[in-house]
Amino acid sequence: MIRVSPSILAADFADLGRDIGRIKQAGAEYVHIDVMDGLFVPNLSLGFPVISAIRRDTELPLDVHLMIERPIRYVERFCEAGADILTIHVEADTPENTMQALEKIRACGVRPAICVKPRTPAEAVLPYLPLCSLILVMTVEPGFGGQKFMADMMPKVQTIRGYIDAMNPACELEVDGGVDSGTCRLCIASGANVLVAGSAVYKSADIPAKIKELRG
Ligand code: DX5
Ligand code: ZN
Repeated sequence: MIRVSPSILAADFADLGRDIGRIKQAGAEYVHIDVMDGLFVPNLSLGFPVISAIRRDTELPLDVHLMIERPIRYVERFCEAGADILTIHVEADTPENTMQALEKIRACGVRPAICVKPRTPAEAVLPYLPLCSLILVMTVEPGFGGQKFMADMMPKVQTIRGYIDAMNPACELEVDGGVDSGTCRLCIASGANVLVAGSAVYKSADIPAKIKELRG
């Protein structure tokens, strides 16, 4: 089953409650929340108070994507704020700290996940895969919505699909960046089962139809 996780980075932050209500009504499975620290990526977005407010406002699972340096410092607080899936980047700290951060997330009862940037090879997820509930493959350089989909990431998605099937079949495989009604098919054909989409969903005049289209 293909799941859609609309990214609220493309929503109207002055009317976030309405915009999350819209995706829930349209049948989205998750809400994708992008957290940026101005260091790991050259942009800032939102943090704990906004996530807690979203948590109070919706029962949809919160798919929180941390684009922050040394996430181990904050993972417990993101769990407390209400994350259901908490994704950290493999490039954001040492392997030891990354492993420990994933363990902390799991100990909080939250689904641990790891993300790879476009230039990071598929093998980088291997040490963490047994611990992970989801792997996220970036199909743009992280930091901004509305960028062009990198179709050359599809071999990496296929390779990671192979790892997941062999090592941890319950793990989900998500793609993020430039996913729209055209590129979604490539992602699904390559083995992704969770699609993040910001611009495609929120710039659409008919969100339910768009979410349906994204399922391929
Ligand atoms: C980029 C973020 C994405 C972004 C996707 O750093 O991780 O989640 O919101 O936006 P679109 O779908 O517009 O590429
Ligand atoms: Zn994201």
